Amino acid sequence: MSFRRPRGTRDFLPGEMELRRMLESRICGIFRSFGYREVGTPTFEHLELITAKSGEEIVERLYSFQDKSGRWLALRPEFTAPVMRMYVTSLQSEPKPLRLYYFGPCFRYERPQAGRYREFWQAGVELIGSGTPEAQAEVVALADTVLRELELEYELHVGSVGVLRKLLAEHGAGEEEQVRVMGMIDRGEVEEALQRLEALGGAELAELVEQLISLEGEAREVARRAERVLEGHSGATGELRSLGEIMEALEWYGVEARLNLGIARGLDYYTGMVFEAYVPSLGAEKQVCGGGSYSLAEVFGGKPVPTSGFAFGFDRLLIAAELEPPVERRVMVIPLSREMVPGAVRVASELRGRGVMCELEVMGRKLGKALAGANAKGVEYVVLVGEELRRGRVVLRDMRTGEQREVEVERLGELPELSQPSSP
Ligand code: HAM
Repeated sequence: MSFRRPRGTRDFLPGEMELRRMLESRICGIFRSFGYREVGTPTFEHLELITAKSGEEIVERLYSFQDKSGRWLALRPEFTAPVMRMYVTSLQSEPKPLRLYYFGPCFRYERPQAGRYREFWQAGVELIGSGTPEAQAEVVALADTVLRELELEYELHVGSVGVLRKLLAEHGAGEEEQVRVMGMIDRGEVEEALQRLEALGGAELAELVEQLISLEGEAREVARRAERVLEGHSGATGELRSLGEIMEALEWYGVEARLNLGIARGLDYYTGMVFEAYVPSLGAEKQVCGGGSYSLAEVFGGKPVPTSGFAFGFDRLLIAAELEPPVERRVMVIPLSREMVPGAVRVASELRGRGVMCELEVMGRKLGKALAGANAKGVEYVVLVGEELRRGRVVLRDMRTGEQREVEVERLGELPELSQPSSP
């Protein structure tokens, strides 16, 4: 019997949990400031929901199982398919566009390493019902705003799977073939992808794609080079122009993004613009965000609807952001004798009722030991409950200076030194 955690999972101790909650509330606060509203979906879904369109990459890494009734289920590896299932069943008739966000754990059977886990958290958004350049740019700009507000050193790369898809389609590649080639490119298996393309459309197609996916850099410059590479391929050129409109809208938002036509993304549902954000200091697992425009509603029985979104790897952001722990005022109420315990319970309740966070000494210790215990925990103020309580008073002790003064219980809740410092 092993009592260790399963591989790729983590425990979060109180200090870590405080940092996680702090980051979560900063990110979700920014999502809300753009008008997005939170949704929740089950931790597990029917296996087919995930296998329908997410792609081999993800399906190979699923945690799937049969329940006691023989149904095949899977722990969610991401939120986009579940959110679009929810949209189709419950939100299709809502006014458009819908702006939804989510935060929660996802599960993928991966080889664990720094920044890559089997249970990890995503914070993301989906904008449903508009495919305008400004809608797609908004999603990218929202991701950019979060990264900027966290003061990270990051790079934002925008590309399009639409360009490559159109090019492949022009050479007779169906949906399945397109997805296969893009999957190879996403995994870095470029040689294999080019060989496949050569078999499909000859050396010319392979060369074209090779040139295209190596284009990365300053947006306008890359767009000019790509136009030249794609000359004569009207479908792909059209996609490139649409991407150009999104890049222009990004300028209105003040977003500095690079154009990278090599981004293929590991999920099959993307149709047009795609983007990724990297924090180079994270090393191998530097991708902190991925997203793009996609088409999924019709896969789940809904009407087709233009959609775009992204998800942050929350755990990677947390490593990159190097946050300072939140400052919390720690207050402890200590009864000076056994007889004073009921009074101490009342004082503690009164304080909590007035918004002061405080804990009660419940170890039955003598005063000296109780104070040493409070000190060891980093308690800053102690409320000593003794005989004075008969007069409605207690003794307030500043643990840093050792100063003590009598205070009316009634007034304790108003003391600024006991209230929580406002969060940054
Ligand atoms: P994804 O790129 O598969 O996209 O995942 C988004 C982010 O989750 C990645 O950029 C990465 O930071 C993080 N991530 C992925 N796997 C792990 C892992 N094993 N450990 C830690 N972090 C990980 C999606 O999931 C799409 N649903 C994004 C999207 C939303 N596209 C449109 N809407």
